[in-house]
Amino acid sequence: MTRDDERSRGDAGWRMADLAREPLSRPSAAEQSSPVTDEPPENIVVIGSGGHGREIAEVCLAVARAEPGRVHLVGVIDDGPRAGDLARLISAGIAYLGTVAAWPWSSYACSFVVGVSDPTARRRIANSLVAHSRPATLVHPDATLGSQVALGPGCVVFAGARLSTTVRLGAHVHLYHNVTVGSDAVVDDFTTVCSAATVGSGTHTGAGVMVGAGAVVLDQRRVGDGSTVAAAACVVGDVPPDTVVTGVPATARSPKHSLRATS
Ligand SMILES: CC(C)(COP(=O)(O)OP(=O)(O)OC[C@H]1O[C@@H](n2cnc3c(N)ncnc32)[C@H](O)[C@@H]1OP(=O)(O)O)[C@@H](O)C(=O)NCCC(=O)NCCS
Repeated sequence: MTRDDERSRGDAGWRMADLAREPLSRPSAAEQSSPVTDEPPENIVVIGSGGHGREIAEVCLAVARAEPGRVHLVGVIDDGPRAGDLARLISAGIAYLGTVAAWPWSSYACSFVVGVSDPTARRRIANSLVAHSRPATLVHPDATLGSQVALGPGCVVFAGARLSTTVRLGAHVHLYHNVTVGSDAVVDDFTTVCSAATVGSGTHTGAGVMVGAGAVVLDQRRVGDGSTVAAAACVVGDVPPDTVVTGVPATARSPKHSLRATS
C-alpha cells in the first residue's frame, strides 16, 4: 500500500462523509440521567501499554465511573511491552492481555482503541485490526463538547479538552489534556493534538498530523497531511503536507531536520 493509499479516507473502514449521516456526540443530559439499559457494557481493549495507552485506559475507566454500564475496560494488549510499563499496568490494576495475535478476537466481543501517540503507527495498527474488531470512541467526562460536534470511530478526547461548536474529528484522532478546538474546525484521521495546544476556528488539520504541546494554529489555517507542528509553535500561515514547522511564527525546518516521528 502506498503512502497516499494509506492516507485516503476510509482506509480504516470509515469515511469522513459518514459523519454527516451519523454524527456521534456525547449523550444529552436527559439520556445520561437514565443509564438503565439492557445492553451490556461495551468491552474495550487498549492496544499499547506505554504512557499513552495507559492514559487512554484511564479515560476508559473514567467513562465507566461516570456512566455506569456503558463501557468496560478489559485490559491492554501489547506485542512487546516493556517491563516498566507492565509493572505500571499491574500497579494500576489494569490487566495485560498478551499480544494482538494471541487475543481471541473472533470469540470475544470487544472494540479497541489504539493507545499509540504516533499517527503513522496508530494508522498501521488500526488498519490491521479492522478485520477483527471495531474501534471505540472515548470522551473523558471532564472534556466538554459543543453542539453538533462529530467524532469519528477510534477518537479519544482526554480530560480538560474543549471542543467548540460544529467541530468534526476524523477516525482515530487523539486530543490530549486541555486541548482547545475552535468552532467549525476539522481534524482529519489519525491526527494527534498534544496537551494544551489550540487549534483555531475554521482550521483544517490534515490526516496523520502531530500538533505539539502548547502549539497554536490560528483561525482558518490549514495544516497539510503528515505534517508536524512543533511544541509551542504558532502557525500563522498554511502548512504544506509532510512539513515540520517550529517557532513563533512557525517556519518550516530544513530537510536535514527530518523531525517527523517514525513508527
Ligand atoms: C519538533 C519535534 C518533533 C522535534 O523532535 P526531534 O526530531 O526529536 O528533534 P530534536 O529534539 O532532535 O531537535 C532537532 C532540532 O529542532 C529543534 N527543536 C526541537 N523541538 C523544537 C520546538 N518545539 N521548537 C523549536 N525548535 C525545536 C532543536 O532545538 C534542534 O535544533 P538544532 O538542530 O538547531 O539544534 C519535537 O521537538 C516536538 O516539538 N514534538 C511535538 C510533540 C510534543 O509536543 N510532545 C509532547 C507530548 S504531549
